[in-house]
Amino acid sequence: MARQYIAQRLLQEKDFLMSQLQDMMKGMDDVIDLSVGDPDFTTPAPIIEAGYRDALAGCTHYTQHRGYPDVIQAVVDYYKRELGVDIDEKNVLITTSADYAAFQACFATLDPGDEVLIPDPSFLCYRSQVEYSGGKVVMVPTYEEDGWRFKAEVAERYVTPKTKAIFLSTPNNPTGACMHREDLEAMVKLAEKYDLLLYSDEIYTWYSYEVPFISVLSIPGAAERTIVINSMSKNYVCTGARLAWVIAPVPLIGAMVKEGMNMVYTAPSISQRMAKFALNEGKELMAPIMAEFKERMFRTAERINQIPHLKVQSPPPGTFYLFVNVKETGLTDEEFVLKVLEKAHVALVPGSNFGEQGAGYVRICCTVGLPKLMEAMDRIEALGL
Ligand SMILES: Cc1ncc(COP(=O)(O)O)c(C=O)c1O
Repeated sequence: MARQYIAQRLLQEKDFLMSQLQDMMKGMDDVIDLSVGDPDFTTPAPIIEAGYRDALAGCTHYTQHRGYPDVIQAVVDYYKRELGVDIDEKNVLITTSADYAAFQACFATLDPGDEVLIPDPSFLCYRSQVEYSGGKVVMVPTYEEDGWRFKAEVAERYVTPKTKAIFLSTPNNPTGACMHREDLEAMVKLAEKYDLLLYSDEIYTWYSYEVPFISVLSIPGAAERTIVINSMSKNYVCTGARLAWVIAPVPLIGAMVKEGMNMVYTAPSISQRMAKFALNEGKELMAPIMAEFKERMFRTAERINQIPHLKVQSPPPGTFYLFVNVKETGLTDEEFVLKVLEKAHVALVPGSNFGEQGAGYVRICCTVGLPKLMEAMDRIEALGL
């Protein structure tokens, strides 16, 4: 075909080395894959069974546009019980994955040219979510010396008359950084000063080791200008459910519902039933899994710091990602990742995928058991980089 059928916006999107890494991995039968942010645990059986039971009872249809009322209620109860935040059921939308929720938030609120401040480094998809919605990405640096915490005083330097929103992401993928109460308070003040929106991605709620997790909604003044995003994927190790919830002011919920109705109509019914059970009764089921992630993170960080030329924050602040400084090896992060995959058969992600500030770092996902993580570190050490 002579004509270029693919839209420019996708042709222009950078490939970030991941398909090359996937191709290289195909030829290796002993690869330890630490590149994918998908928890290795199967979702606890009672959560799956709740979905199955309710599906058999007839929950196999479209649902109300904002989601089943009892699932919305479960979100309200959960925020009150676990995070001490009062929200009204009118402020909740059940939707299809945190990825889609973030896109909905951007699509519902951004006009062409609106600028969105995004911490650098951070989850790759935020940039596409903003750009697909017509917005302009403005990356705001965070620094290893600050423990990668996203600081309002740095963000303020990037505010222009076109700034519309700020993406908060705590704990952060890939750095694990957790925003402390004072960081969130300063961000809310900044948003108030310039009348900005906040998109707050809270999907690693329970992977916060350095400080107890705080929802931005617990900061006075935040609720009227914040869209909170949370999902089943990490907190209930259930990436396959593609189920998320959004908390936002009523008019913004209305705008997101309008968009969602045209795209997916409603969130998956069976996943919603799983979410109801998980939100109400999942905490105890998840406790041993969370303890295992924490142990993996702490032990692997200690082990990394024994390897010459590698350095990582220890103990790590949050998530199941370690963001390792490889600058002393003299290799770029991409060279490091390619060499480690080629010679040690360990798959990592270059930090520059997550923003310019990530150059010189690699992300390690602790999504395999400790023996495999230790073997991966032994293999990397043996390369003598
Ligand atoms: C920070 C962050 N936000 C959102 C997502 C996407 O979550 P979901 O699986 O609910 O779409 C991820 C997935 O890795 C993530 O790391």
